[in-house]
Amino acid sequence: MEEVSLSGRVAVVTGAGGGLGRAYALELARRGAAVLVNDTGGTLDGTGQTSAADAVVEEILGLGGRAASNQDSVSTPEGGEAMVAAALDRFGRVDAVVNNAGILRDKSFGKIDWDDFHAVQDVHLRGAAYVSQPAFRAMREQGYGRFVFVSSNAGTFGSFGQASYGSAKAGVIGLAQVVAIEGQRHGILSNVVCPLARTRMTESMLDAPEALSPEHVAPLVAYLASERCRETHQVISAGAGHFARVFTGLGAGWQADPAEVVSAEAVAEHMDRILDSSTYSIPLSAPEELEMLAPYVAARTAAGQAV
Ligand SMILES: NC(=O)c1ccc[n+]([C@@H]2O[C@H](COP(=O)([O-])OP(=O)(O)OC[C@H]3O[C@@H](n4cnc5c(N)ncnc54)[C@H](O)[C@@H]3O)[C@@H](O)[C@H]2O)c1
Repeated sequence: MEEVSLSGRVAVVTGAGGGLGRAYALELARRGAAVLVNDTGGTLDGTGQTSAADAVVEEILGLGGRAASNQDSVSTPEGGEAMVAAALDRFGRVDAVVNNAGILRDKSFGKIDWDDFHAVQDVHLRGAAYVSQPAFRAMREQGYGRFVFVSSNAGTFGSFGQASYGSAKAGVIGLAQVVAIEGQRHGILSNVVCPLARTRMTESMLDAPEALSPEHVAPLVAYLASERCRETHQVISAGAGHFARVFTGLGAGWQADPAEVVSAEAVAEHMDRILDSSTYSIPLSAPEELEMLAPYVAARTAAGQAV
């Protein structure tokens, strides 16, 4: 098997003071990367600050790796800039960013407090953008880069009580896909991991601590952060050593009579065909979806109907 090496590479891992981020940082360092271990070290709801990142740096140094600690928050543009500047100052370049930092402030939709909602969005969605933009600029200069964004099944499929978290995590996928599209011509790849592991974030929901340990997710992150990775624009679910693609497909659908403006009743009657997912394609950008719709637009234009 060809080795997955990060030798000579520099990685920034946000929220790496514990849980999944710590496992990612250790695995990247074990494979040769110099790692900027970022974490504010707060509680699960994002309050407080501790030196959690320092302990992980000690661990990496103790194993003979290279690492530096950073406590900037991902949740402001200044924090993102400072973090990437710290990696550049310390290690000279930034090759990979793992946007892992996260908090939870779960509440059912009817009870949401907007300060909580915004705080969750600030860390997961805006935070990923604040860290990634300065890194993207540095990667563009060097013609090489790897982004690993972290989403969740709460974002892809929804989860009770997680409107703030789920919407932020779905937004992360949109962000990652645009970065993939804009990064490709600069040698920058961008993919998303939807992890499942027992950490402080999930300990009340998940049993089987060993089967669901973060170490089972870290190999995918190491691959996606490495030079060996060729994929981009992908979303992959990972937990307990099981890995699977998550995708948004476009069904074959139902085409109304091109000579008529369709009625709401006709839409209702054809809902089964509209929702049928036995045949689908997976567009890799918005223009690709438009190309797939082009024959229907052409048929309607030929029939003399306004599009
Ligand atoms: N554990 C799972 O099963 C699971 C499932 C889906 C997604 N995720 C995602 O994986 C990521 C890691 O979660 P985890 O389960 O390891 O939980 P965790 O709470 O152990 O890790 C999150 C880390 O992010 C840090 N952090 C919070 N706000 C920060 C900020 N503003 N700046 C920098 N660091 C900050 C925290 O201090 C913490 O160490 C999160 O993005 C989470 O949403 C986890």
